[in-house]
Amino acid sequence: MNSKNKDFLDILVEISEIMNMITDIDSLLKRIVELAKEYLQVQRVSVMLKEGDCLKIVAGAGLNFDYKDFKVKIGDGASGKVAQTGEPLIINEINEPNKDFGYQAKSYMCIPLKVKEKVIGVLNITDKIDDYFDENDIKIGKYLSSQCALAIERYNLYEEEKRNEKLALIGKFTSAIAHDIKNLLNIVQGYLELMEIEIEDNPDIKEYTDSIITELKLIHGLTLDILDFSKRNILLKKEKVLLSELLNLITKHANIMLRFTEINFEIYYNSDIELFIDKEKIFRVFMNLLSNSIEALNEKGLIKLTVEVDDKLAVFEFFDNGPGIKKENIDKIFDPFFTAGKIKGTGLGLAVAKEIIQAHGGEIGADSVEGEYTKFIIKLPI
Ligand SMILES: Nc1ncnc2c1ncn2[C@@H]1O[C@H](COP(=O)(O)OP(=O)(O)OP(=O)(O)O)[C@@H](O)[C@H]1O
Ligand SMILES: [Mg+2]
Repeated sequence: MNSKNKDFLDILVEISEIMNMITDIDSLLKRIVELAKEYLQVQRVSVMLKEGDCLKIVAGAGLNFDYKDFKVKIGDGASGKVAQTGEPLIINEINEPNKDFGYQAKSYMCIPLKVKEKVIGVLNITDKIDDYFDENDIKIGKYLSSQCALAIERYNLYEEEKRNEKLALIGKFTSAIAHDIKNLLNIVQGYLELMEIEIEDNPDIKEYTDSIITELKLIHGLTLDILDFSKRNILLKKEKVLLSELLNLITKHANIMLRFTEINFEIYYNSDIELFIDKEKIFRVFMNLLSNSIEALNEKGLIKLTVEVDDKLAVFEFFDNGPGIKKENIDKIFDPFFTAGKIKGTGLGLAVAKEIIQAHGGEIGADSVEGEYTKFIIKLPI
């Protein structure tokens, strides 16, 4: 057995040992990249994972820079291209910087991390010390990348299971409570409707009852959010709704919610179309966004909803010029029970909004600059 074969077996054994020993994903990936660096005798190794349209380094060995905020756009550079095509890239003996990849290493291996054919990231192995990659090195590289992918998938499944268990438990309690509240609200609404008949010719009081009904609708929406969320599979009652009809409904409630504030609410759209949506639920999404913006603005500012329609998508941009979202929080705001900077936040508003939009086959994302603005972008298929 030559020394290379021995290396290969050693690394197989060692990786399977740490895979079974270390359960914390960060330490596990760290160990894998360290092992790769040591066994392959290279300068640098990193694991990058896809996040939106970027790759982010999540573990590194031999990297001589702070990679915490380092990002590469998918499609850019060598690793970005590998993430895009899903094909490994192996380069030996580069004398000239490679123009295609903008890369200047002597020897470089970038191997996609795949889970069931889906690329979730890449493994970069750079600059073999005094040497170039041979067949065995490439085998080890591929093996390591498959193990990284496996570790990440296992971790995600485990986290998902933990999350589901927690949600199921919370769901049991909350759905019982939400259910009762919903029934009580129905009774209150019934009485209000009776009142409205009695006071038909008193516009002042009619304005108050309208306001009460709006607030009730919000509480009702909240209980439905909780019920939906604890069931975890949202059932849609889709119907044909004109965009203008949806926007009118939003404006009506926004005006009531904003009447004692100095917040301006503006709506812009380029053309009216027919949407096929669950009107109640999409309305709730916007009410959740609106509540967040109102809470963020603190009585003063601008909220703007812009809708652009093309032949496939309706794109909604929900903007406010409030304090924005902290950089470290932006990835977490759609997580259930994530709340920040509020006394009474439950952290369900955006999680539910995401579930509803995804149930419609759409997407929701956020963009924010601290101290300047927050923008939520919703894409709904038409
Ligand atoms: N327009 C916004 N401006 C600033 N921060 C926002 C905005 N929208 C959301 N956030 C941040 O995202 C967090 C999560 O929002 P989400 O609506 O999911 O929960 P919440 O508002 O805290 O509670 P809930 O909506 O369940 O009452 C908020 O706590 C807040 O920190
Ligand atoms: Mg909220």
